[in-house]
Amino acid sequence: MKKKQFTPQKPRVVTTKTVTTMKQTGEKIAMLTAYDFLVAKYLDQVGIDIILVGDSLGNVVHGYETTLPVTVDDMIYHAKAVKRAVKNALIVVDMPFMSFQASVDEAIRNAGRIMKEVGVGAVKLEGGEYIANIVKHLVKIGIPVMGHLGLTPQAINKFGTYEVRAQSKKEADELLHDAKVLDEAGVFAIVLEKIPSSLAQKVTKAVNVPTIGIGAGPHCDGQVLVVYDMLGLTEEFKPRFVRRYAELAETMRTAFRKYIEDVRSHQFPQEKESY
Ligand code: KIV
Repeated sequence: MKKKQFTPQKPRVVTTKTVTTMKQTGEKIAMLTAYDFLVAKYLDQVGIDIILVGDSLGNVVHGYETTLPVTVDDMIYHAKAVKRAVKNALIVVDMPFMSFQASVDEAIRNAGRIMKEVGVGAVKLEGGEYIANIVKHLVKIGIPVMGHLGLTPQAINKFGTYEVRAQSKKEADELLHDAKVLDEAGVFAIVLEKIPSSLAQKVTKAVNVPTIGIGAGPHCDGQVLVVYDMLGLTEEFKPRFVRRYAELAETMRTAFRKYIEDVRSHQFPQEKESY
């Protein structure tokens, strides 16, 4: 059977409401991360639905081993650059480790800073039932929240590995429960990271809001990848869920080598490149 494909006729402004409608009409949601002006500009130009300013910027931009050192100020700095470039996509900003877990007050203050100082559409929080109360408060005061279950990198020290999550029945049941609780708490979408495809399908059917998978198979309502992974910039990182749409690391090295060679051999600059 041919699968439904929707291609919007003209650029549309994407809101959390658009995303809800997309689940209802069966239109797949395309989401990628961005951390800077130019990448965000090109994503927006080609009609990406959601741009996530993910705390993965800790790894791919800042070179930390985990996302734990990332601060609210880091997120705001990068999100502001993304915001300047975007006309249509919904921008979602990750709330970094320890910016929301300690109390509802702290979560409100930090999410409020992100919304007010950057002017984005929503925030994303990692975690299950234990953050439901925080989600309820944020949503109540008008801050849309995207959930994030499965492999939650901020909890790496609890799990010790980046392996597939929720493979046992007990963990799968827990994840399904967490998804339902987040749905009831008012999230507008849930990221499902690195869980079995069959579980992602079950969650997608069980909740009213769209699921957005990363390493969670084809049954989610949408997909997300870290933009540096799909562009082939994070060369050593090769999990099977990352499809490489380009090999930019090699393209960059080739360009840099050529430049160095041209400078050293007096080939650059030529007269026509001078004033
Ligand atoms: O930080 C991030 O980029 C994310 C995605 C992997 C979903 O949370």
